[in-house]
Amino acid sequence: MSIEVKDIHFSYGRIKALDGVDMELSEGAVGLLGPNGAGKSTLIRILLGFLIPQRGEGRIFDLDIKSQQSMIRRYIGYMPEDDCFIPGMDAVSFTSYLGELSGMPRQEAMKRAHEVLYYVGLEESRYRFLETYSSGMKQRLKLAQAIVHDPKLVFLDEPTSGLDPQGRKEILELIMDISSKKDIQVLISSHILSDIEQTCSYVVILDKGRVAAQGKISDLKQVSYSLYEIKIKGDVVLFQKQLQRIKGKVEETVEGVMKVFIPPDQDPGVIFRIASQNNFQIRHFVKSQASLEDLFADTVGVE
Ligand SMILES: Nc1ncnc2c1ncn2[C@@H]1O[C@H](COP(=O)(O)OP(=O)(O)O)[C@@H](O)[C@H]1O
Ligand SMILES: [Mg+2]
Repeated sequence: MSIEVKDIHFSYGRIKALDGVDMELSEGAVGLLGPNGAGKSTLIRILLGFLIPQRGEGRIFDLDIKSQQSMIRRYIGYMPEDDCFIPGMDAVSFTSYLGELSGMPRQEAMKRAHEVLYYVGLEESRYRFLETYSSGMKQRLKLAQAIVHDPKLVFLDEPTSGLDPQGRKEILELIMDISSKKDIQVLISSHILSDIEQTCSYVVILDKGRVAAQGKISDLKQVSYSLYEIKIKGDVVLFQKQLQRIKGKVEETVEGVMKVFIPPDQDPGVIFRIASQNNFQIRHFVKSQASLEDLFADTVGVE
């Protein structure tokens, strides 16, 4: 297992960003899919050891994310969501500088900088000042610096952000090439379902700081969640928590009617059991059908 986290909680002051995240990931390209604000970047920063979770544990390559960050970072590349450029630098100096920061000797870092810039298609612009780069070039440069030290695993946070369709296609192709040919495991965060479907075989869907679903994309696409529309009298928040425990997913809708997704391995009777154990009254109960596409759409929004 290359990444394993349990019950991760993280708040920025009063803002709860992660509310009990569990995940277990082995090889292959993994998508971290979720709408803006879901907690994707926070989770990535925690895996990198930039933020320490208030609760929960995690291991990457069997190293502890709280106490062994510097060891972990040797094996990990990171493409941040925001620009991380130093004005007045060109791509070669920038990339080799970051290589040195990851512990490479200067000459080797310089040699690798030229190689990775060539690989991402920036060889002709490698001596230009970074402030003159287009969005597409900036994303490719961020990708180059993430792999300069030959990591075993890279975290790519919204790699297609700000790109037009052609730029998006190019960066996704590079990512697929990295994950298939270079023997580097990738974890890609995105709010766009099609980015993840194209590049990944496994997905973790994050919504409001919680894992809404995770699994092989091919399996998840076949799965058909049952959808119920329910109205209850009682503590709605407690009811939602109970449902989350059985991996149900709740969407609050108008006038107190909740849409509840129940995973296929659960019997819908579980809703009534939860209600009776907690003295909720069910006022309204209608069954409909939902595919995982609906779950994606509800969770993530479709572009
Ligand atoms: N530095 C910060 N200070 C306060 N709140 C933050 C900060 N960074 C993120 N948040 C909040 O944490 C939640 C999760 O954010 P984030 O991890 O950036 O989500 P995503 O990457 O999925 O868009 C959001 O509600 C966001 O507003
Ligand atoms: Mg983000």
